[in-house]
Amino acid sequence: MYRSHFIADLYSFSPGSAVTVAGWVHTVRDHGGLLFIELRDRSGRMQCVIDAKEHPVMEAMAKTLRDEWVISIHGALASRPEGTINSEMPGGHLEIRVSTLRVLNAALTPPFPVGENEGVSESLRLTHRYLDIRSPHLMEALRFRSELTSLIRNYMVSHHFWDIETPLLTRSTPEGARDFLVPSRLERGSFYALPQSPQLFKQLLMVGGIERYFQVARCFRDEDLRADRQPEFTQVDIEASFLTRDQFLGIIEGLFCDIFKAFKNITLSRPFMRLTHAEAMEKYGSDKPDLRFGIPIVDISSIAQNTSFAVFTQTLGNGGTVRGIRFPGGASRSRKEVEDLTAWAQGQGAKGLAWIKIEQTGPASPILKFIPEPLQKEISETMEAEPGDLLLFIADTLPQTLKILGLLRNHVAKIAGLIDSSKTALLWVVDFPLLEWNPDEKRYEAVHHPFTSPHPDDMAILADTPELTRSLAYDLVYNGTEVGGGSIRNHEIELQRRVFDLIGMTEEEATRRFGFLLEALSYGAPPHGGMAIGLDRLAMLLLGRDSIRDVMAFPKTQKGSCLLTQAPAPVDSAQLKELGLRLA
Ligand code: AMO
Ligand code: AMP
Repeated sequence: MYRSHFIADLYSFSPGSAVTVAGWVHTVRDHGGLLFIELRDRSGRMQCVIDAKEHPVMEAMAKTLRDEWVISIHGALASRPEGTINSEMPGGHLEIRVSTLRVLNAALTPPFPVGENEGVSESLRLTHRYLDIRSPHLMEALRFRSELTSLIRNYMVSHHFWDIETPLLTRSTPEGARDFLVPSRLERGSFYALPQSPQLFKQLLMVGGIERYFQVARCFRDEDLRADRQPEFTQVDIEASFLTRDQFLGIIEGLFCDIFKAFKNITLSRPFMRLTHAEAMEKYGSDKPDLRFGIPIVDISSIAQNTSFAVFTQTLGNGGTVRGIRFPGGASRSRKEVEDLTAWAQGQGAKGLAWIKIEQTGPASPILKFIPEPLQKEISETMEAEPGDLLLFIADTLPQTLKILGLLRNHVAKIAGLIDSSKTALLWVVDFPLLEWNPDEKRYEAVHHPFTSPHPDDMAILADTPELTRSLAYDLVYNGTEVGGGSIRNHEIELQRRVFDLIGMTEEEATRRFGFLLEALSYGAPPHGGMAIGLDRLAMLLLGRDSIRDVMAFPKTQKGSCLLTQAPAPVDSAQLKELGLRLA
């Protein structure tokens, strides 16, 4: 037997128990006469002691042990002598008096000490990912992720969803990123695409009468990577038939209530807050607002109109807008700090940043000379400013103003320390626009994807003002990050054709790319809809980690490479030939 217990199980055991444990040598310390081995398994660490007098042969053998060797130890659990108890460590009051030591494998000296990140580059850790996985930091993340996935699976199954796998070798799916392609050997010159999501298959499963489907699904998107994006990531993909939007969102809310209860001991109140996309943009300048803090965007155009500040009046004259946010307590910021804020805003594309400090004695700003006193007061009131605040204004086109103030809002909250990390702000953003204009391609594009249903209240305006049409798409936003998104779909073929038509897809193209779906819709497709939750992102946020790589066993770098296996890598010319490919 290699082991009788995981180390962490022993923490609550009474001294005297005979135990067998196995794992890796974390450290060895020779105190002359007594030799201490700190043994580590995935659950924790335990001090093991060899007494040279009692076991001279074993002690000689133990002296050859090095970090990361694999051993199994049998012995008796004992209380540590007074004065040697480590109250910082779980199990620090115990040790194992070793009676048998078995070396199971030797190890080379690791390129970095396991569990120590200080001064070790991420690329070195990624190259030896299996060593990094031994660290408590990653071990905790992977265990957490396993528990999270398990809870989600149980919840879905108990709500009558069936776990069904869909193909990875498939055709291009329309999530809007670039595809990863896989050349076919049997049909030279043809390619599979790895799925950006199981979107089409899950809809086909609804037509197939499955009614409720879910899958912990791998998705592939060839796009530029960021801290919360990977080229290969995992969705909890969900689809259901015969549910209204609100019924469906209710099921997902139940799931998140269970997740937050289980892992954070937080009781979320239901229904979750909902903002329409228009409200979110207008008030927070973002379709994924962080509502752990306030700072709404305020429109002061009608006041700015009557000032003589040319930046404001000219912008308004050109059809623009003037809006601002409060920086609570910002009036005490130095001139340099205010200049830094302006430079930051300019870095985001602002033309400038106008500001007014609300001092105890009254407003202060270089632009006050252009603003008569009654208007200063009106601005202050409209902004609900309090003494000590700094008011920040952007004058620009409406979309640009909202975008910059949305970013500035997050920035201000961060530097003012307004983000309470113990807070949880979960909300739905609903009624996204159906389409947006792509100026480069001179056509509309689906904001979510082209299978999303237009909002039933907007059917009348679909033909004449497509850009104003709302959809039945929704996103779930957690502390300012989109953790999931989905929609109610077009289940009637005519409506689906109309949407394809609006995004400039000819009937021919629609048939070529999605003919199988259109055909399926004409064989009795039920009303259906669903969503996908970004599992990696959710795990990252719940654990409070900064990078999605921290919650994946084998992540890729920002450049999309796997440092451990050296993928992607060139292939033999014989392999290319077999596929009928030649490198340009
Ligand atoms: P969407 O494209 O919004 O919807 O994706 C759903 C969720 O997946 C996560 N996500 C990612 N996570 C890590 N790395 C990435 N590169 C990445 N891209 C997306 C996000 C996002 O909210 N088929 C639709 C869903 C549907 O309509 O049912 C879809 O894929 O958390
Ligand atoms: P100027 O007239 O260029 O000297 O600008 C006067 C002040 O207005 C400076 O603080 C600028 O940063 C600010 N400003 C300039 N353009 C804008 C704008 N579009 N929106 C808000 N403030 C601006």
